[in-house]
Amino acid sequence: MLGFTYLLLTFWMSAQMSFAAPFAQFEAGCNNFASQVANSVANTTVFFAEVVPAGTNLTFPDQDPSCASTSSSQVVLADMCRVALNVSTSNDSGIIMEAWLPKNWTGRFLSTGNGGLGGCIQYVDLAYTTALGFATVGANNGHNGTSGASFYHNPEVLADFVYRSVHTSAVVGKEITRLFYGTPHNTSYYLGCSTGGRQGFKSMQDFPDDFDGIVAGAPGINWNSLMSWEDYVHSVLGNNSSPTFITNGEWLDLVHKNVMKQCDAIDGAVDGIIEDPNLCNYRPEDLLCGSSSSNSPDCLTAEQVHALRLVYSPLYNSNGHLMYPRQQPGSEDPSYIDEIFGGQLVQFSADWFRYVVYDPSSDLNTLNVTDWTHTQQLNPYNIGTWNGNLSAFRNNGGKMLTYQGQADMVVSPIDMELYYAHVQRTMSLQSKEVDDFMRLFRISGMSHCANGPGAWEIGQTLPGVGGQLTVEMLHPDRNVLTAMVKWVEGEVAPETIQGTKYVNDTKDLGVQFSRRHCRYPLRNTYDGVGDSRDPDSWFCQ
Ligand SMILES: *[C@@H]1O[C@H](CO)[C@@H](O)[C@H](O)[C@H]1NC(C)=O
Ligand SMILES: *[C@@H]1O[C@H](CO)[C@@H](O)[C@H](O)[C@H]1NC(C)=O
Ligand SMILES: *[C@@H]1O[C@H](CO)[C@@H](O)[C@H](O)[C@H]1NC(C)=O
Ligand SMILES: *[C@@H]1O[C@H](CO)[C@@H](O)[C@H](O)[C@H]1NC(C)=O
Ligand SMILES: *[C@@H]1O[C@H](CO)[C@@H](O)[C@H](O)[C@H]1NC(C)=O
Ligand SMILES: *[C@@H]1O[C@H](CO)[C@@H](O)[C@H](O)[C@H]1NC(C)=O
Ligand SMILES: *[C@@H]1O[C@H](CO)[C@@H](O)[C@H](O)[C@H]1NC(C)=O
Ligand SMILES: *[C@@H]1O[C@H](CO)[C@@H](O)[C@H](O)[C@H]1NC(C)=O
Ligand SMILES: *[C@@H]1O[C@H](CO)[C@@H](O)[C@H](O)[C@H]1NC(C)=O
Ligand SMILES: *[C@@H]1O[C@H](CO)[C@@H](O)[C@H](O)[C@H]1NC(C)=O
Ligand SMILES: *[C@@H]1O[C@H](CO)[C@@H](O)[C@H](O)[C@H]1NC(C)=O
Repeated sequence: MLGFTYLLLTFWMSAQMSFAAPFAQFEAGCNNFASQVANSVANTTVFFAEVVPAGTNLTFPDQDPSCASTSSSQVVLADMCRVALNVSTSNDSGIIMEAWLPKNWTGRFLSTGNGGLGGCIQYVDLAYTTALGFATVGANNGHNGTSGASFYHNPEVLADFVYRSVHTSAVVGKEITRLFYGTPHNTSYYLGCSTGGRQGFKSMQDFPDDFDGIVAGAPGINWNSLMSWEDYVHSVLGNNSSPTFITNGEWLDLVHKNVMKQCDAIDGAVDGIIEDPNLCNYRPEDLLCGSSSSNSPDCLTAEQVHALRLVYSPLYNSNGHLMYPRQQPGSEDPSYIDEIFGGQLVQFSADWFRYVVYDPSSDLNTLNVTDWTHTQQLNPYNIGTWNGNLSAFRNNGGKMLTYQGQADMVVSPIDMELYYAHVQRTMSLQSKEVDDFMRLFRISGMSHCANGPGAWEIGQTLPGVGGQLTVEMLHPDRNVLTAMVKWVEGEVAPETIQGTKYVNDTKDLGVQFSRRHCRYPLRNTYDGVGDSRDPDSWFCQ
């Protein structure tokens, strides 16, 4: 206990005590740093090293324009030395990376991840973790921009995307950290979601020495099947000239409301959140138009209802094996409906088929289960990221904290539960033994990595603390990243993570409610008595 109290007290202080170099000295060190890196780290070209004072609003004029949706500008929250470089990863591939080295360093190192097919450095994550005193790196995943076009006939660029960008930037980033501060990092961490989540799982599986603690949300593991699932859903729903098509308005006004009508009360609290969607046996037949009402806007045709039935059921391959789990009822997310159910194949899946599985001239409207099975078998560089043997990571003392929104429309929440079971079977472990090194938190009402009707702000990103670094939102009970630091350095693992929901997702409007999320396989259960907005009215069962 003493050790842990010490950790809490020193979480923000330790760096200042050991490393509060005068600003001028820090500045001189940074200004000389580019040549030092170039001379010491093989296969790199340093673009620049420059001091960036807290409060600076950075813009990124050189980045690919498609990255603007990830970050077009970023306000820096702590004084730091910003280093940008490239590192070649083979004769015809390389990564662009940045290291943000805070003046108030805590001795901790952290790598950030990417999203989608993304070749975009997630500057907002660098700003968040640098402000918490981590020496942080981020990389472009081996290519610039959100398109998958550079994978075409380019296996080395694909290898960077699958595993090498994060590994390389971790190795190089640790070396840069040592050079800059004159002493190696004490502990190393990873933070990412979606593709960033998959990158975290890839590190755990294949590079078990890279990180002491990995926080990986909504991971796109089972990747090949996920790509196929997206194509399958597209083929089931068709486009707006198909009798099976369901419009944006129908998804939100009919389907989502009908799901809630059938399943919101299962957990005892009618609050727009299905605590465990596994318990929702959704029946879209409720929405069938009667024989006299076939053109009513309040109902769906038999073709549409059949399509819904398929979307809320798993996909099997031609051998009858489960390929990808169902869409969870309750995950009908206004911010993804047009992209995924809008009548064309979602970009990341389309690019995967065009640039990795087949070629740019493929007709993506005619793929079928043969193609999905082929995709699953192709599995380049083992992008499936489904290795259930985590012995090396566990034996190193590595810790994995994974979180999964239960209203995620992009990655089925069931996928993570299947992986968890796969690890148990592969390693012959009971849940409480898995708890020693890997904990899965199911975040009810959280959409893909963020947002949604639930208490989704769990410290996973800067928006995940309401955009401001406050003592309460950085508390390890409410923050997955500081919880991980406490687990690795204080050896106290998180039992629950308390999520926060702000009114209109705006911190200044105040807290709407909070809820503690349980670790799998425990289920969050309402006591049926207290105010459901009070975390104490729920317990993990
Ligand atoms: C930072 O700069 C960008 C581009 O000039 C601008 O759009 C953005 O509003 C600025 N952010 C802040 C917080 O000032
Ligand atoms: C990728 O973007 C970086 C800036 O982030 C730029 O220096 C580099 O030239 C770009 N590479 C290509 C191939 O466009
Ligand atoms: C760094 O730490 C010092 C000492 O605690 C503090 O006064 C200062 O505000 C910190 N600076 C930044 C940029 O966080
Ligand atoms: C530098 O790159 C070359 C060619 O890709 C490779 O053979 C060599 O091992 C790399 N050196 C280091 C230190 O990574
Ligand atoms: C990489 O380039 C070097 C120098 O041109 C060459 O010797 C080597 O064979 C190349 N390696 C590969 C794998 O192509
Ligand atoms: C890295 O920079 C060097 C020198 O500017 C350049 O030759 C090389 O192509 C760059 N590599 C990448 C991957 O951008
Ligand atoms: C790293 O840990 C050692 C031993 O606990 C401690 O003395 C040192 O101050 C730490 N380094 C930093 C940068 O915090
Ligand atoms: C809609 O789907 C039909 C049937 O697959 C196809 O023939 C048509 O080209 C599609 N329309 C658009 C705009 O994609
Ligand atoms: C899938 O499509 C191909 C032609 O593109 C066809 O030969 C094959 O029979 C189809 N497979 C199934 C299971 O429908
Ligand atoms: C798991 O991997 C370790 C090496 O990390 C190996 O020694 C062990 O045999 C593997 N166990 C299984 C069940 O495959
Ligand atoms: C929250 O947003 C809704 C819809 O945008 C709006 O009607 C409502 O006034 C907002 N509430 C507050 C407290 O700002």
